[in-house]
Amino acid sequence: MTDWQKSSWRNKPRVQMPEYLDKAALESVEGRLASYPPLVFAGEARRLKNHLGKVSRGEAFLLQGGDCAESFAEFSADSIRDTFKVMLQMAMVLTYGAKVPVVKVGRMAGQMAKPRSAPTETVSGTELPSYRGDIINGFDFTPEARIPDPERMLQAYLQAAATLNLLRAFSTGGYADVHQVHAWTLGFTDDNEVKKYADMAARISDTLDFMEAAGLSAESNHELKTVEFFTSHEALLLEYEEALTRIDSTSGKWLAGSGHMIWIGDRTRQPDGAHVEFCKGVQNPIGLKCGPSMTSGHLKSLMASLNPENEAGRLTLIARFGAGSVGEHLPRLVKAVQEEGANVVWTCDAMHGNTIKSSTGYKTRPFESVLREVKEFFSIHAAEGTIPGGVHFEMTGKDVTECTGGVRAVTDEDLSDRYHTACDPRLNASQSLELAFLVAEELSARRNGLKDAKAV
Ligand code: PEP
Ligand code: CO
Repeated sequence: MTDWQKSSWRNKPRVQMPEYLDKAALESVEGRLASYPPLVFAGEARRLKNHLGKVSRGEAFLLQGGDCAESFAEFSADSIRDTFKVMLQMAMVLTYGAKVPVVKVGRMAGQMAKPRSAPTETVSGTELPSYRGDIINGFDFTPEARIPDPERMLQAYLQAAATLNLLRAFSTGGYADVHQVHAWTLGFTDDNEVKKYADMAARISDTLDFMEAAGLSAESNHELKTVEFFTSHEALLLEYEEALTRIDSTSGKWLAGSGHMIWIGDRTRQPDGAHVEFCKGVQNPIGLKCGPSMTSGHLKSLMASLNPENEAGRLTLIARFGAGSVGEHLPRLVKAVQEEGANVVWTCDAMHGNTIKSSTGYKTRPFESVLREVKEFFSIHAAEGTIPGGVHFEMTGKDVTECTGGVRAVTDEDLSDRYHTACDPRLNASQSLELAFLVAEELSARRNGLKDAKAV
């Protein structure tokens, strides 16, 4: 790794990155970003790596979620708070239901660059370059909006900094205190899930009262009064990533200062490509999307280059095959990991393999498919004797209608009501909570199964 530089990726083939026409403007933005403070610090990234090491051993569970693409238009304190709230609720459901600590990682504060399946899109006979996320170009369907503009990186940096600032304030400023467990309920989720959540919250409050009465004061217990919340995004726009990459003075190692965890997308994971080259050299926890085309050979070579020291918590494999296809693909990759004796976290992105076009023309994901993929993921790991470490969702705290199904069944016809995503369809707050209850059941069944097996 001695010859690695934060700019080494520039010598490798790159895909899914914009061609900036105004090189001078690009360089000026890169220079400014490089002079700004990083958003996260190395000690935090190391802490997350340590937590993910626990996940890899089955001692904790990873909950990763947030927007497909954060947008400049949806940026507000309310959106950040609502997504944070649902994640806290989901984490509480998992912790309480499955009796396992939950590592909370938002797809937040930097998730703004998108890989696309086609370089252009055509609407009513007009063809324009695809939208690639607000950090790159504009969503409006006009030729001007679709030109990549480097200045957008500065806006993205400001948005990421302000988002992270609010998340830090919520995490430690009293809002995430477990005594607030009732208050996290979102106003509009007035159904079955909320009732279930309220019942659980009442039992938690009861336990806290008991602890208080028994002299185990929660007042002085830092763990109960704050949460640790980490950020993550796809490291797609490497000019932005490079500009925020710094040497950590404690360890002398490089850190991508744009977020705690970064991941490599399913379309940019070429073993000799620019994105893998960049991620190789930074010490952050790295995610790697594994879609149906991932071969065991590719995975082995990626594990060797991304985690040569086989450090626990360094590499998270994010399986995203689609409901009905997990059995066809996951076993060969689990075997590759076993053959290499590699330490990895296995998590399930149950969104990206389940995108369909609805009868009303909207891109959607059926709730049932999302749940089915998670269940398949759990059962394959149970069969292989390996650890299902976590789940990865595209979700929002807002009451959107983007994915169909769920208890408050969203239909194809409902999709047009509140379809706000800048990219892929997200689970709404009540679908997210419903999923958390179902995942908690899977997880606790598995943990009880393990306990029973030990007892025999
Ligand atoms: C994403 O996570 O938003 C994404 C584009 O995923 P993938 O690379 O797995 O398609
Ligand atoms: Co997406």
